[in-house]
Amino acid sequence: MGAMSGTIRKAVFPAAGLGTRFLPATKAQPKEMLVLVDKPVIQYGVEEAVQSGVDNIVIVTGRGKNAIEDHFDVAVELESYLEQRGKTALLEEIRKITRLINVSYVRQGEPLGLGHAVLVTQNLVGNEPFAVILGDDVIDANPPALKQMIDVFARVDGPVLAVERVPHEDISSYGVVKVDESAGNLGRGVHRIADLVEKPRREDAPSNLAIIGRYILTPDIFDSLRATTSDRTGEIQLTNGLRHLLRSRPIYAYEIDGVRHDTGNKLGFLKALVYFALKRPDLAEPFRKYLESLPTLSTSSR
Ligand code: G1P
Repeated sequence: MGAMSGTIRKAVFPAAGLGTRFLPATKAQPKEMLVLVDKPVIQYGVEEAVQSGVDNIVIVTGRGKNAIEDHFDVAVELESYLEQRGKTALLEEIRKITRLINVSYVRQGEPLGLGHAVLVTQNLVGNEPFAVILGDDVIDANPPALKQMIDVFARVDGPVLAVERVPHEDISSYGVVKVDESAGNLGRGVHRIADLVEKPRREDAPSNLAIIGRYILTPDIFDSLRATTSDRTGEIQLTNGLRHLLRSRPIYAYEIDGVRHDTGNKLGFLKALVYFALKRPDLAEPFRKYLESLPTLSTSSR
């Protein structure tokens, strides 16, 4: 069955990274399985995809990532244990996600960069537009971030990159887009991209619009990625592949309406943990009370 134009059926999750920022926690456990309250980080992204109508999940893995596959597989012993004890709510909770998705895995083999991770999904993605979700960026939004992007894609009919305005001192951690100011009004938060550059020095950044971890891509990105040479760290950057693609078609940036947490660093992870705990009806009140009781929070004067 071919995809109708504008329909996104597949979401790619690059998950082959080593997670060195979280060592020793990630020595024997993938960083994607670090837990925010009671769900691994990657499940937030997968649920976002499902809630955006995308249920074919393609996960790019590597050595040491088996826990991800087990997590999205049926857990026979666990299910019968919960069933026998009448723990219906928990049973439903762990069954839900496996039932809702159709998941495939492809190994990246070598850590050759985000562009390379996308390239190895070509056979699974085929000749249709698709989403890329970087699970580190957990976005709380309504409608879900990916759904917002799919709606933009349906209108502009070209690749869409999620962007966010970030403080100048942080800009070098991101791909950065330069906006084409002559493009006219494309809708709220939508820009046409004039150029993009991966992790520029602060003084070279063309704007404060940073690429965050959501992309809607078209299958011509694969040829562009193949034409992209590795950077000085030996990696093929998705940003550079997109820069190549920009020569042959318009590409768009979209400012997501929502709250993004970068769980890929410790401070961002902690903020996300507190944020999501405070959104949980069962935890919000006692947890808030606990936070307020911490002596370090009560006053900064001495
Ligand atoms: C990657 C991309 C970068 C993007 C960022 C968003 O970088 O290469 O362009 O801004 O994700 O999270 P990474 O964070 O993997 O170094």
